[in-house]
Amino acid sequence: MIDHLSNLRQEALTSLDAVSTPIELENWRVKYLGRKGPLTEILRGLGQASPEERKEVGAAANQLKQDLESSREEKESTLQDRDLHDLADRDAIDVTLPGRPAPLGHLHPITQIIQEIVEAFSAMGFQTVEGPEVEWDRYNFEALNIPQDHPAREQHDTFWIDEKDKNGSPSMLLRTHTSPMQVRFMENHKPPIRVVVPGKVYRYEATDATHEWHFHQVEGLAIDEGISFSHLKGTLYEFAKRIFGIKRKIRFRCDYFPFVEPGAEMAIDDGKGGWLEIMGAGMVHPKVLEGVGVDPKRYTGFAFGMGAERIANLKYGIEDIRSYYSNDTRFLRQF
Ligand code: PHE
Repeated sequence: MIDHLSNLRQEALTSLDAVSTPIELENWRVKYLGRKGPLTEILRGLGQASPEERKEVGAAANQLKQDLESSREEKESTLQDRDLHDLADRDAIDVTLPGRPAPLGHLHPITQIIQEIVEAFSAMGFQTVEGPEVEWDRYNFEALNIPQDHPAREQHDTFWIDEKDKNGSPSMLLRTHTSPMQVRFMENHKPPIRVVVPGKVYRYEATDATHEWHFHQVEGLAIDEGISFSHLKGTLYEFAKRIFGIKRKIRFRCDYFPFVEPGAEMAIDDGKGGWLEIMGAGMVHPKVLEGVGVDPKRYTGFAFGMGAERIANLKYGIEDIRSYYSNDTRFLRQF
């Protein structure tokens, strides 16, 4: 048996010498080291051998297997080297050139800022949820205390889907803000509630440096017993500190939104003596709470909605909102 093994070694190595292509090498491997090859057969047959024989032959067969495997690997790398040198000899490639680095992409600046924003709120106990961009009139307006003829609808001109309600009025649209998620979330969750809702919104308007027909908002909603306006201010102040740093000033002023009472706008000092409004906010209107079955005598809460592009503009000193969506890599590369 030991003789048989050494003949096998001889034969295998001689035929390996003759191998000159990867395919031949693979055939060689199957023949000598494959599952149906002579070595496997010998190793398998050991079960019937006497204990001494099993020990001796087993060791020799395994040794042979290892040797053949390393000879095969050596051959493989010789073949590869030879291929490269062939190519180099034919001047097809310069093997001494360093590799070209593969260009790496990264997240879009608005995606990055949204992540930063939701992380700031997540640190304050807010959960992140998302909602549909195609929305019912009911959620986008009606349930937010913006009935059919309400003047607030004028600021929310949008794209309508060809879908009519039973009175023949269009009933489905691209959402104009993330506020409909206030309603959707409260429909399915009991207080206490603390959520932020990042997402894309749409407005039917001409595009210029400060307007896009689509942009991003991050909505916030907190509902519990005993929530007051000072919780709102404290939360947003903390948010501004986390995003813009301690030195930036913030300012609250009265504002009107049908779904909050009282309502406010929050602005950040632009560092040039001016203020830039970055969000609307306020205490959730009792009518909105009632509409989703939350008792406004027991629960109160605040909501806010900020424009992600505005935050990014302020943070990075960008003047034209269109830069984000013109796919100019010279702009995008900077982030
Ligand atoms: N949804 C309002 C807007 O898009 C912002 C807002 C959100 C205001 C929540 C108050 C409370 O303008």
